Amino acid sequence: MIGLIDSGEGGIITAREIRRLNETLDLTLLLDRRNAPYGTKSESELTELTGNNIERLLSLGASRVLIACCTASTVWNNLPEGQKKVSVPILSPTARRAESVTKNGRIAVIATAATVRSGAWSRLLFPLRTTELALGELVTLVESGARDGKITDTERKNLEKLLSPLSGSGADTLILGCTHFPALEREIKEIVKKYGIRYTVSSAREGARELIRTLTDTSGHGRTVLI
Ligand code: DGL
Repeated sequence: MIGLIDSGEGGIITAREIRRLNETLDLTLLLDRRNAPYGTKSESELTELTGNNIERLLSLGASRVLIACCTASTVWNNLPEGQKKVSVPILSPTARRAESVTKNGRIAVIATAATVRSGAWSRLLFPLRTTELALGELVTLVESGARDGKITDTERKNLEKLLSPLSGSGADTLILGCTHFPALEREIKEIVKKYGIRYTVSSAREGARELIRTLTDTSGHGRTVLI
């Protein structure tokens, strides 16, 4: 069984991407709605929650755990090896994908406040020029049901306002650095194209691809894939 961790909808969005690639994979979702949102939590709270969630899935028999939630995975990523309850390799398929699609070397990232505070994306993308924008409101929008093809005019206007700080970024590529955000990928794409941003990279999609890519690697029982 493969375990997947997220704070809510982002886990379902990632699981859907995994299902597109592998319909039969034995998947257990741990959606920690009780402690959501993760994006407003402190580093120590997130470390504690993530460690407990990983242990829980391993105790249920997971052979591998995917920390789909970018907020949890960036905190885990930054943690010194000795402080981790479970040792993990650091994989960053979303950053690698963004590096390969950008033509001008400038990447914009939208993520939760905790992820932006961690500085993880800028480090992963260095030496590319990165503009990070904290958009916790977008998590709330998705949790309240907004989706591509299912969004009110007021919600769309709100989304436009939230994304407007990206207008001067000069980026041609946008990372959806929170697994909730791909729920509105089409809408986001339409808005940011006015700012010259041509490509979007979804953390949910890249995490799913990385999981499937590394499934055949049996060396790491309990290994955790970070996105
Ligand atoms: N989906 C999570 C992420 O990828 C965060 C959502 C939340 O704030 O709970 O960062």
